[in-house]
Amino acid sequence: MMKTSTVLSLLAFASNAHAQNATALAGLAAAFESMGLTSLVSVASTINGTSTGNTLLSNLTSGAPYVVFAPNNDAWSKAPTNVTNNTSILADVFSYHLVPGNFSGDATVYPNVTLGRTLYNDPATVRLEGGKSQVVAWSIRADNKTHVLNQRNDSTVVNVTTFGNLTIFIVDHVLNVPESLDATIPADNASLTGFETLLHSTVATDVFNSSTNQTNNVSWYDAINTGFHGFTLFAPNNSAVSNVNSSLSTLNSTELTDVVENLFINGTTLYSPLLAGSSNYTSAAGESLSFSINATGTYITSGNFSARIIQPDVLLPNGVIHIIDTFLINTANDSSAASSAISSAASAATQTSSQTAAIGFSATQSLGGASGVPSPSGSGSGSSSAALSLTDAAAGKELAVAVAGAVLGALMTVF
Ligand SMILES: *[C@@H]1O[C@H](CO)[C@@H](O)[C@H](O)[C@H]1NC(C)=O
Ligand SMILES: *[C@@H]1O[C@H](CO)[C@@H](O)[C@H](O)[C@H]1NC(C)=O
Ligand SMILES: *[C@@H]1O[C@H](CO)[C@@H](O)[C@H](O)[C@H]1NC(C)=O
Ligand SMILES: *[C@@H]1O[C@H](CO)[C@@H](O)[C@H](O)[C@H]1NC(C)=O
Ligand SMILES: *[C@@H]1O[C@H](CO)[C@@H](O)[C@H](O)[C@H]1NC(C)=O
Ligand SMILES: *[C@@H]1O[C@H](CO)[C@@H](O)[C@H](O)[C@H]1NC(C)=O
Ligand SMILES: *[C@@H]1O[C@H](CO)[C@@H](O)[C@H](O)[C@H]1NC(C)=O
Ligand SMILES: *[C@@H]1O[C@H](CO)[C@@H](O)[C@H](O)[C@H]1NC(C)=O
Ligand SMILES: *[C@@H]1O[C@H](CO)[C@@H](O)[C@H](O)[C@H]1NC(C)=O
Ligand SMILES: *[C@@H]1O[C@H](CO)[C@@H](O)[C@H](O)[C@H]1NC(C)=O
Ligand SMILES: *[C@@H]1O[C@H](CO)[C@@H](O)[C@H](O)[C@H]1NC(C)=O
Ligand SMILES: *[C@@H]1O[C@H](CO)[C@@H](O)[C@H](O)[C@H]1NC(C)=O
Repeated sequence: MMKTSTVLSLLAFASNAHAQNATALAGLAAAFESMGLTSLVSVASTINGTSTGNTLLSNLTSGAPYVVFAPNNDAWSKAPTNVTNNTSILADVFSYHLVPGNFSGDATVYPNVTLGRTLYNDPATVRLEGGKSQVVAWSIRADNKTHVLNQRNDSTVVNVTTFGNLTIFIVDHVLNVPESLDATIPADNASLTGFETLLHSTVATDVFNSSTNQTNNVSWYDAINTGFHGFTLFAPNNSAVSNVNSSLSTLNSTELTDVVENLFINGTTLYSPLLAGSSNYTSAAGESLSFSINATGTYITSGNFSARIIQPDVLLPNGVIHIIDTFLINTANDSSAASSAISSAASAATQTSSQTAAIGFSATQSLGGASGVPSPSGSGSGSSSAALSLTDAAAGKELAVAVAGAVLGALMTVF
């Protein structure tokens, strides 16, 4: 439970020096306070004690556009203590809530997904190719509310407001950062236990460890859990695995490895909108994987097999899994195509670009017929935006004077 006096928080925000823009920070703090986000303000003050947090706050007030996932006070009161009691973990978690870019017009209806690259980039816990930052995924579900995906506690956008160039999605839970395969299968993805067993038993694979410059031979499971830096895996769910158990048991170890490699793209983390936008990619076995999308979903074809992606974008610290409904049993292998795919992935990975739009789509493209920003889902009323817009021109007392009104009642009491 976070409880810090509003007055103290605002003073902390206002009393900063050179590196940060005091005026902009005070204005932002006041805006958050006026939205009732007092715990978020105190979290921001806390993490400013770390260099990561300090940088995050200057990024947020630089004037550039951001989407901010802003947990409300109830969300912070429910946050696990192993997140809230450790300042550097708290700073990492906070960074996962900040997405550079303007995402208006990017509302998607599940299974279409909007993904943005966050400021979460702690090398200890984010191990994507080319040092890329971790992504967050969100989509409008059947209840017409915008949900953040891959969350242990379903996290819903309860209100959308703007402040200057910031779009603020108020959410009802503090977001979980993506967890390892080891952690996410039992907690959230029990439909992958059959494939997990297969990964344990498939012939081991080589993984290069950049901190030792050594290549180790580890199980496929360990490679996916901790070894690879950047990959895309199409993982059949439990019923898809049990449907083909007898065919799989006739394969020798070479064939089984080829089958797994044909479900795997090495060196590139391809989120679902990138699949939809492309006709094919090359698997780690050097075979073509082709994709198509229509109103019923996204489909993958490998050899003579096709499957539908039934759960896109299971995010991991080091890659992504898309769960499919049919096991693609492709035993073909073209090792020269595989190595050229790997080297082009490696060269693409070195080109780090700062990403400030939804991954896979242009910032203005709208999907799935939904219009504008995700619906502010105030208890299913269906009424359109109750969005609050404040200008951030004013700050401190000036702010109180400039935008005094019902909405800033809470703030006024401070001064
Ligand atoms: C953040 O910390 C720096 C020192 O590291 C300080 O100069 C600044 O005033 C602080 N800002 C806020 C908003 O607390
Ligand atoms: C600080 O922020 C305020 C309010 O957003 C802005 O008017 C001002 O130009 C900024 N100052 C600097 C040095 O960036
Ligand atoms: C955040 O701020 C730091 C320090 O000012 C800067 O180096 C970095 O480029 C900024 N990041 C973004 C995404 O603006
Ligand atoms: C918002 O961004 C635009 C450019 O994208 C910039 O011209 C404008 O000054 C920014 N607004 C604020 C309040 O920083
Ligand atoms: C934070 O809380 C966890 C229990 O959730 C505990 O194990 C840990 O020692 C605490 N850390 C600190 C720094 O208090
Ligand atoms: C906090 O504890 C939970 C449950 O024990 C665990 O799943 C989670 O990974 C921990 N989070 C962090 C940031 O350590
Ligand atoms: C969601 O919105 C659609 C179209 O506006 C409507 O037909 C449907 O009943 C809504 N569903 C829920 C659960 O509110
Ligand atoms: C690994 O090799 C690279 C150059 O190829 C070198 O810069 C780095 O220091 C090496 N790391 C270790 C731990 O030997
Ligand atoms: C596995 O089976 C394939 C196809 O029958 C065969 O070409 C290959 O030599 C076998 N490999 C091993 C290691 O038995
Ligand atoms: C993935 O690519 C790396 C080189 O980046 C290579 O060492 C490794 O063997 C490849 N793994 C698979 C399964 O293709
Ligand atoms: C997802 O996007 C595709 C391609 O734009 C579209 O055909 C499909 O209808 C969309 N699905 C939903 C549920 O909006
Ligand atoms: C959304 O925010 C506005 C402005 O703070 C507020 O008036 C409204 O009650 C909020 N709606 C919900 C559902 O929280």
